[in-house]
Amino acid sequence: MITARFAPQEVSPTVSSPAFVGPEMCPLQLRDVTVANRVWMSPMAQYSAAPDGRPTDWHLVHYGARAVGGAGLIMIEATAVGPSHRCTAADLGLWNEEQAAAHRRLTSFISEHGAVPAIQLQAAGRKGRTSFLGTGWARTTLCTWVTAVGTRSRRRQFPSVI
Ligand SMILES: Cc1cc2nc3c(=O)[nH]c(=O)nc-3n(C[C@H](O)[C@H](O)[C@H](O)COP(=O)(O)O)c2cc1C
Repeated sequence: MITARFAPQEVSPTVSSPAFVGPEMCPLQLRDVTVANRVWMSPMAQYSAAPDGRPTDWHLVHYGARAVGGAGLIMIEATAVGPSHRCTAADLGLWNEEQAAAHRRLTSFISEHGAVPAIQLQAAGRKGRTSFLGTGWARTTLCTWVTAVGTRSRRRQFPSVI
């Protein structure tokens, strides 16, 4: 039995009813934001950002497709709040106007299709790095930022992680 805690009044509370709408499809109010349902997309890093951290067409298609598909909320992947807060060189960034404009392309599309755009902000701190995923710790010519700590101290601090 689904209780009134989830189901609005007009929704039949019995699972066997043909009019039954499960709790996952009920709207959720978060202050002034209404999310159409509780099917939300988790943040999943795509490692596909442009070298300057801007979202690319990949992100538009990846997130846009889920918005068109009916997800209630799309949580954009971990997005660095500064150059040194990236965990890979292909992480998304949001620390300047050019990046914000590129993000708006995504959020507009997501909103136009009825989903709520959200974002996971990332401050990598001691886990920051300057390499591409799968290329070890070598710096590339594109990666000019400095992380919070060097590789050696990071290895000492996170022996089981890296
Ligand atoms: C390719 C990939 C990228 C991911 N990136 C993020 C991320 O950016 N932020 C985050 O919090 N979790 C990330 N995750 C974890 C997913 O959000 C998590 O796997 C998802 O919520 C499903 O949960 P489960 O693995 O416990 O079933 C990532 C997972 C995958 C597979």
